[in-house]
Amino acid sequence: YSQLTGANANTLVIATEPTFPPFEMAAKTGGELEGFDIDLMRAIGQESGLKVKFESLPFDGIIPALQSGTVDGAISGMTITPERAKTIAFSRPYFKAGLAIAVQENNSNIKSFADLDNQRIAVQISTTGANKVKTIPGAKITTFDNAPLALQELVNGNVDAVVNDAPVTLYAIKTGNLQGIKVVSELLTEEYYGIALPHKSPYIQIINNSLQTLIDQGKYQVIYQKWFAG
Ligand code: ARG
Repeated sequence: YSQLTGANANTLVIATEPTFPPFEMAAKTGGELEGFDIDLMRAIGQESGLKVKFESLPFDGIIPALQSGTVDGAISGMTITPERAKTIAFSRPYFKAGLAIAVQENNSNIKSFADLDNQRIAVQISTTGANKVKTIPGAKITTFDNAPLALQELVNGNVDAVVNDAPVTLYAIKTGNLQGIKVVSELLTEEYYGIALPHKSPYIQIINNSLQTLIDQGKYQVIYQKWFAG
C-alpha cells in the first residue's frame, strides 16, 4: 500500500455517506459538507499534515471502496463491529453512540425492543440498525438508502418504528427537522464509531496519534461542543 488514491501524495480521499446529521451533511449554503465527522477529519488532516478530500458514497458502497482501494479511508458514523473488522481496519474509537427506537409521539404500544414483534420498521441499508432488526419475529422491515428517508417514513405514518443511531434521531428531533416523533426509553446497543481504513493502510497509526493529540489538546472537545452542546 504505497500509493495514495488522492490527487497527490499528500491527499487522503475520505468516503462518507453525507446525509447523517450532525455527523455529515450538506451545508445550508455552498454545497460543502459539514458536521462533527467532517470537522474531526479536517482537524486530523491539519494535525498530520495531510490534505483531506471528501467523497460522497452510498453507505453500502463504503466498505467495497475501501477494499478496492478507490478511497483511502472513511468517516461516516461507522460503528466498529467484529464483522466489519474482518474486511477493513478501524482507528481507535472516536465517538460513543448506540441504537434507539423512534416511534410517533402518540404511540404508547412500543416501549422496548420486545414490542417490535410484528411491527413495520424502517432502517438504513447496511447499518447496525438494519442488522439489529433482522431477527425480530413477524416484523415487516423496509430498508432506505439513508436515515432521513427512514425517519420521514415514520413521520408519514407508513411505519411504526425506526431503529437508527440515537444521536442522529435525537438531533433530527431537537432541530425540529422532524416533528411528531419521539425516542423510546433506553439505548438498544452501545456502539463506538471508528474511522474506517483498508486493512493494510499506512495511515492507521498517524490517524490514531492525531486523534489522541486532538483529545489531549481539547480540540476534540471544541468540535464536540459545536455539534452537541445544549
Ligand atoms: N452507525 C451505524 C453503522 O455503522 C450507521 C452509520 C450510518 N452512517 C451514515 N453516514 N449514513 O452501521
